Amino acid sequence: MPQEILSISDVEKSYDGVRALRGASFSLDAGEVHALMGENGAGKSTLSKIIAGAVRAGRGTLTIDGQPVVLNGPLDAQRLGISIIYQELDLFPNLTVAENLAIANHQFAEGNRVRFAELDRFAGRFLKQVGLAISPCRPVASLSIGEMQLVAIARALSMNARIIIMDEPTSSLFDDSVERLFRLIAELKSRGVAIIYVSHKMDEIFRICDRVTVMRDGSTVGTWPVAEISAADLIRKMVGREWKPGERGVREAGPILLAVSGLTTRKLRNVSFELRKGEVLGIAGLVGSGRSSLGAALIGLDAWKRGHMTLHGRPAAPDSVSKAFALGIRLLPEDRKLQGLMMQMSILENCTIADLGAMAPHGLVRRGREASAVLPFFRDLSLKRASLRAPVATLSGGNQQKVLFARCLLANPEVLFLDDPTRGIDVGAKEDIYAIIERLAQQGKGVILVSSELPELLRCCDRILVMREGEITARFDAATVTQEEIMTFATNPVAPGEPV
Ligand SMILES: Nc1ncnc2c1ncn2[C@@H]1O[C@H](COP(=O)(O)OP(=O)(O)OP(=O)(O)O)[C@@H](O)[C@H]1O
Ligand SMILES: [Mg+2]
Repeated sequence: MPQEILSISDVEKSYDGVRALRGASFSLDAGEVHALMGENGAGKSTLSKIIAGAVRAGRGTLTIDGQPVVLNGPLDAQRLGISIIYQELDLFPNLTVAENLAIANHQFAEGNRVRFAELDRFAGRFLKQVGLAISPCRPVASLSIGEMQLVAIARALSMNARIIIMDEPTSSLFDDSVERLFRLIAELKSRGVAIIYVSHKMDEIFRICDRVTVMRDGSTVGTWPVAEISAADLIRKMVGREWKPGERGVREAGPILLAVSGLTTRKLRNVSFELRKGEVLGIAGLVGSGRSSLGAALIGLDAWKRGHMTLHGRPAAPDSVSKAFALGIRLLPEDRKLQGLMMQMSILENCTIADLGAMAPHGLVRRGREASAVLPFFRDLSLKRASLRAPVATLSGGNQQKVLFARCLLANPEVLFLDDPTRGIDVGAKEDIYAIIERLAQQGKGVILVSSELPELLRCCDRILVMREGEITARFDAATVTQEEIMTFATNPVAPGEPV
């Protein structure tokens, strides 16, 4: 008989009159992995934060081991054995990894003396568990986003919790790290730890979860054993209507738009490719393979050591970001929080910041002009938001990603480099993004799409380049290549002399 360790009933939460939760109920058994699914803005993170004591519910009850409890803050939750990995990581960039693990952690120092000598030893144990081979003395700001994600996971583990909430823990993890996390989850489960697992990735849900609770518009719709529900049913419950994936349109690539030859930077070696008008060119590769570095070189962030580029057949050198912008090249960065959004600025300002010239004909920004320029893009992206003036920080994670996407579209670029554009985007909204990519191609734009999800590349692209260690290792026609072929070239070195 499963033993219930947590239950919540009829929880409500409003933010300045916006209802984030309207009657959410949920129960969790010891030793289960319980998925929480729902569209962007459905209330998953809000519910998670309430259980973790970080946000206070407006109404409703929370019981642990059958006893009603009131959480006045995250430390209260920790003492009851609840820890959380937030969707938007809450690490302190200027502190070291070890300090981040220890700070506000009741397992480390509840007294008023910090034992510095023990700090590194404490951190080292948990870093090892998540497979992060870095010095605990490194400042968090020097880590990659994937490494930061692992630090956050290590921190949650170090609290010795019985309930761990993981809010999209794999959104910036890849390959080995994901597998390691899944092994850790299995181990925690066998010790009776319960896990609330928030994710938009269907394959993860079916692989590691026991039950799934679906949320829609701030309410919980129901809970099902994962073995008894299909992916199609789950999507229907999330969106609340019949749903089927869109189809890829027929399109024809035009003349060459962008040609890069021999591009060599700090991270890239002799990269050559062409992008045609109306083409979607996919880039596959593992983390660190040079996918994002290619974007950085094209947008003028990374210096070109060697190489040549033409746009519309004319030599073009993106030697600064403003030059790249002037050439009509735009980049959707991989990490929306660190590289993209200004969290305290409004939704509207975040969209128009890169194109203020167009919004301010006489040096003064016309708010009306701004709003009418961005609204059509928000409609296409089904952005869920209250007011355009609200800070971006008040949006759900997936909706923040859509704001960044709208910023790129607003510039009407000739070449758009999308670095993992559907990170944290729900199943339905992914289709909205695919439709926009399709439309850009129909309009004769050139799109370069980086994605860790191979089905996404196969769905959207005409051709796919595979990268490994800063080089292109293979080029494929997306209509005929298989996922296995791509993976082979993403993981194995090219044979010397082999033409690619
Ligand atoms: N601090 C805040 N201030 C105002 N509104 C907020 C705040 N945090 C969340 N909201 C609103 O609450 C609703 C639910 O957001 P939540 O982040 O819980 O969604 P989610 O299901 O986690 O979505 P996602 O899949 O995009 O992460 C959204 O409409 C969001 O705009
Ligand atoms: Mg969320």
